[in-house]
Amino acid sequence: MNKTILNTLFFISLGFISGQAQHNSERYSAFRPGDIWKDTDGTHINAHGGGLYFEDGIYYWYGEHKGDDSKAHVGINVYSSRDLYNWIKEGVALSVENDSNSEITAGSVMERPKVIYNKKTGKYVLWFHLELKDQGYSAARTGVAVSDTPTGPFKYIRSYRPNAGKWPLNFKEEWKTIPKGGDPEEWWTPQWHKALNEGMFVRRDFKEGQMSRDMSVYVDQDGTAYHIHSSEENQTLHISELTEDYLGFTGKWVRVQPGGQNEAPAVFEKDGTYYMITSGLTGWDPNPARSFKASSLMGPWKALGNPARGVDADKTFHSQSTFILPVQGKENAFIFMADRWKPENHIDGRYIWLPIEWEDDEPVIMWEDEWRLSFFDKQ
Ligand code: DGJ
Repeated sequence: MNKTILNTLFFISLGFISGQAQHNSERYSAFRPGDIWKDTDGTHINAHGGGLYFEDGIYYWYGEHKGDDSKAHVGINVYSSRDLYNWIKEGVALSVENDSNSEITAGSVMERPKVIYNKKTGKYVLWFHLELKDQGYSAARTGVAVSDTPTGPFKYIRSYRPNAGKWPLNFKEEWKTIPKGGDPEEWWTPQWHKALNEGMFVRRDFKEGQMSRDMSVYVDQDGTAYHIHSSEENQTLHISELTEDYLGFTGKWVRVQPGGQNEAPAVFEKDGTYYMITSGLTGWDPNPARSFKASSLMGPWKALGNPARGVDADKTFHSQSTFILPVQGKENAFIFMADRWKPENHIDGRYIWLPIEWEDDEPVIMWEDEWRLSFFDKQ
């Protein structure tokens, strides 16, 4: 066969392959919460506990790659989309490392990745909840990685127990020392609850740094970034200011809802008011969401109750919050993003994206079997 015939055959087969791919993938024009959601290659999107970042007409969706268990065997995936319905798999933004001494070695836990862009340094900064390999959830750390491009590859820098050696801004002077007789050891007693409210775990972790499990990051209008995380044995949320380069903690931080057991924090802002949606603390099982509002990221945060309405509101429609996305080019259009976890086969986890609606200036979430971005035009 001469070269021209070979080339022709090659291009015909390429056309066939891409035609097949096109055929296998579905083109979406609506959200169908809870359904299998395929990427443009026809594979169920694998980006759990995710967060979105928008730039130049493109949304980037970062999320945990999951196999059948909940550990990180691949790393953090990234997808891109121009319309929020159809997602192209861009690859692995932050890969697990093969070195068994690495904190992000395969088999560690890497959850809830969130990416923000630092205008001053020109770097994309990825934060995620990190648990060290074979240590269950005891390490309670937050990890940070950077990249020059939104799709990565991101380079892992380090992990933290936040705010080592720093007291919260909203902490009484007398709470800084262990009370006479010591802190209670038995959990869930009235004395234990009181000691928790009065900073028992903050004191315990003062030197080493505070625990950080479920987390999110948020950039305020003035460019200051904040790290929001479940701390104090998941009993209390902490909100901490990040350094100018977004790679560390300034040591300015507050406790939110001591003893409130909030997980899965997701923050957004509308008309100068900050809102936060969280979940309760029931592992992979769903529970009623909670919502809060504040006039400053550092609080005080006012509890507004469960924002979900209707059937299955008490289970947040069988999902747990992960991010709230302001839709570009639309006013007051926010998407509540949540995970419907499938702990028996994590890769089958589903995505619940629902529009945020408003009742007396408070965010509410109602179930939709199918909806489109035009939903926001009707409001
Ligand atoms: C609930 C958290 O929200 C998830 O991200 C994950 O950490 C599970 N707990 C682990 O049980």
